[in-house]
Amino acid sequence: MLENNILNVLLTIKRIFPKLQSITLAMKAPLKVEITIGETSEKLHPISFDMENYSVVCYFGEKITEKDTLVVKNVAMYLLKFIKAVFQSMRVEAESIKVRRAVELAGALASNLRIDRLLKQIQEGICELLEAEAASILIYNEKKNILEFMVTTGEVSGRIEKIPVPMNSIAGTIFLNEKTMIFNDLEKDNRHFKGVDKASGFVTRNIVGSPIWLDGKKIGVIEVLNKEGGFDAEDAEVLETFAKLIGYKLSTLQGYEEMSRRLKSVILAIATAIDKRDRYTHMHSKNVTDYSLRIGRLLGLSQKELEELEISALLHDVGKIGIEDAILLKRGKLTDEEFARIKSHTIIGAEITKKVRFINRDIVSGILEHHEKLDGSGYPYGKKNGEIGLFGRIVAVADIFDALTTARPYKDPWPVDKVLCILKEDAGVKLDKKCVEALEKVITAK
Ligand SMILES: [Fe+2]
Repeated sequence: MLENNILNVLLTIKRIFPKLQSITLAMKAPLKVEITIGETSEKLHPISFDMENYSVVCYFGEKITEKDTLVVKNVAMYLLKFIKAVFQSMRVEAESIKVRRAVELAGALASNLRIDRLLKQIQEGICELLEAEAASILIYNEKKNILEFMVTTGEVSGRIEKIPVPMNSIAGTIFLNEKTMIFNDLEKDNRHFKGVDKASGFVTRNIVGSPIWLDGKKIGVIEVLNKEGGFDAEDAEVLETFAKLIGYKLSTLQGYEEMSRRLKSVILAIATAIDKRDRYTHMHSKNVTDYSLRIGRLLGLSQKELEELEISALLHDVGKIGIEDAILLKRGKLTDEEFARIKSHTIIGAEITKKVRFINRDIVSGILEHHEKLDGSGYPYGKKNGEIGLFGRIVAVADIFDALTTARPYKDPWPVDKVLCILKEDAGVKLDKKCVEALEKVITAK
């Protein structure tokens, strides 16, 4: 159990720092335990941190910046503290729960969640870790010279977001002093800004807060409120470590979100260009994407999977780019040869997208397999049941629903009820039952 926790912490640290090749945790006598994750070699650059009987050595493939070293050091020291606590404390179980929470929290930092969700998760985790009642992240507004709430957790959440916090408040003091501070007796402290408590009905008794930095510039403050008996130096240290990690993560996340936004707009432009070749289906890719995402959400896909599904659905017909207008836009019956050509849009699409570095197998599945059927009657390969990827099965249902409920040159839109009946008949036979059920829920809930 304890070893698992340590392994998880080591793995998480490795995930947070992609340049980290391997990490070793050594416990000296009497324990003499050594755990290593990853491969070490003489060519790597080691950085070691010691604390009493324990040491952590991080091996990097290249020299890392001073800023990264500082963050690594913080995480390593934090890890050592916990391990020490776990071994020394009589409350082994309670401490290992703490380690687990810290790991979960650090795991959230290593994920690619959207900034707002990530911050909310971190905040809730920190609150739990420090056994406090609430936490908030405030961001500095330079123009107005105030702090504004960005994310709040606990009882006050949703009630205080619009209240500006002045710079002579506790949060302002932490921000201006640029250091982690503990305020355990707020009743006598006239810096305590009462506006927030008044609006929320919450009574703040004590606070520990730490400034958040982004690329060398202080951008805000994270505050944790109300701990029974007050906060101590260890709480301050835990919070400071996570405040640093938040800043570190924000700097990489902002780049990621910006890139993802730009990427999606390019993909949407490509998808719309394909749809526009056929004036009757100009909203098709967008509609299929909307339905697919709603199905995906009901099926419980993660945020990362939904983002991939979005790309997959937007590009599901991208292969039509390779089909001649004479066939694609032909009115009337297609010859067998022409139909075979149309069918090849799945393979052409997969070939085009496979070459893009960020497109993985799941994304390709939605493009290649959205015309496959569970009973093997689909195309291009006649794949069956489990051979068809989840994205292929989701996009298939969304694609048919949109095609039948919208107008085409050869038909009027069919009524939604009729289309749902048709899909339900095929559920479990040709189409994935869970996907059809999810679509029905989406449509009837409208
Ligand atoms: Fe298609």
